[in-house]
Amino acid sequence: MCRPEHFLWIVVFYLYLLPMLYCLQSCEMAANRLLQEGNLGETGTFPWLGVLRVHLHEGDSLKIAVTGIVLVKDKYAIANADDVSRIPKHVFRDDSQAMFVPTAGKPWYSRLKDYITHFEYDYATFHTIALVELAADEIPFKPICWPGYSFNTSTDLYAVGYTDERQLLEKVIYKLQYISQEMCTEFYQRSGLLSSTKYIPTHFQCGFAVNYRENCAWDNGMVMVSNTTGTWMLIAFGIQGPGCAVPSRFIDIFTYLPWIQSTTSIESVYDDFRKKAVHTLQ
Ligand SMILES: *[C@@H]1O[C@H](CO)[C@@H](O)[C@H](O)[C@H]1NC(C)=O
Ligand SMILES: *[C@@H]1O[C@H](CO)[C@@H](O)[C@H](O)[C@H]1NC(C)=O
Repeated sequence: MCRPEHFLWIVVFYLYLLPMLYCLQSCEMAANRLLQEGNLGETGTFPWLGVLRVHLHEGDSLKIAVTGIVLVKDKYAIANADDVSRIPKHVFRDDSQAMFVPTAGKPWYSRLKDYITHFEYDYATFHTIALVELAADEIPFKPICWPGYSFNTSTDLYAVGYTDERQLLEKVIYKLQYISQEMCTEFYQRSGLLSSTKYIPTHFQCGFAVNYRENCAWDNGMVMVSNTTGTWMLIAFGIQGPGCAVPSRFIDIFTYLPWIQSTTSIESVYDDFRKKAVHTLQ
């Protein structure tokens, strides 16, 4: 039997509850489109993918240093700890910004508030993560989704990041082939590419670009993602590598999730206390 109040509930559901449910999603669920490998241009795809731009005044000249970041929580992005800790705090706050491209051709900028490097940075490895806090009041796009469990995929793995090969920052995507940790380590030992263990992340995933051989190198902040579930999921965070065609290490994000959660979810009234605690740990 069809009663008017049933109809009303359907209207309420579609007009109010459904959009609300969508907005409550805390990460970017946008469905996949078929993407060509290589340079995607200044596209709005991967809105959570950004760069940190730092203005360095050297005498009269101005240099802009860039490192890749990825938005993982409202107002927090992951960056390479070694890159971020080289930036003096006053330059970080006054002369640096985060750039994302949430809409095609329309970069969005935010000033920066603070950063916290993971405590293993000082004693274990240079290649760990830092959390960068954005100063913007509102961020017009959502963070990347994380898998709720450790993910192992060899068919739907990609590296995404930015390139400046055409004099402006554009997004790129490469198809990755997964390699086991053992094979990866063996490769590095045989090739003698790395000398110090301080350049090896404590937890990593490994892969190489299947189709790209020339003029391609990984930068800090390339992001290893998988779309096995139909949503882009953060797997690992890239570090400067020998070239896309050889096995490269990416910092495994899964093991850092508890640290990211606890560092970003403490109420702001405890902010100062937390930072002091973090500093004495280091
Ligand atoms: C993942 O993305 C690629 C590139 O756009 C696409 O070809 C593939 O079908 C996607 N896989 C899934 C499971 O959605
Ligand atoms: C991940 O998958 C690859 C290929 O499917 C497999 O060789 C490897 O053993 C798996 N690793 C883990 C930790 O399950």
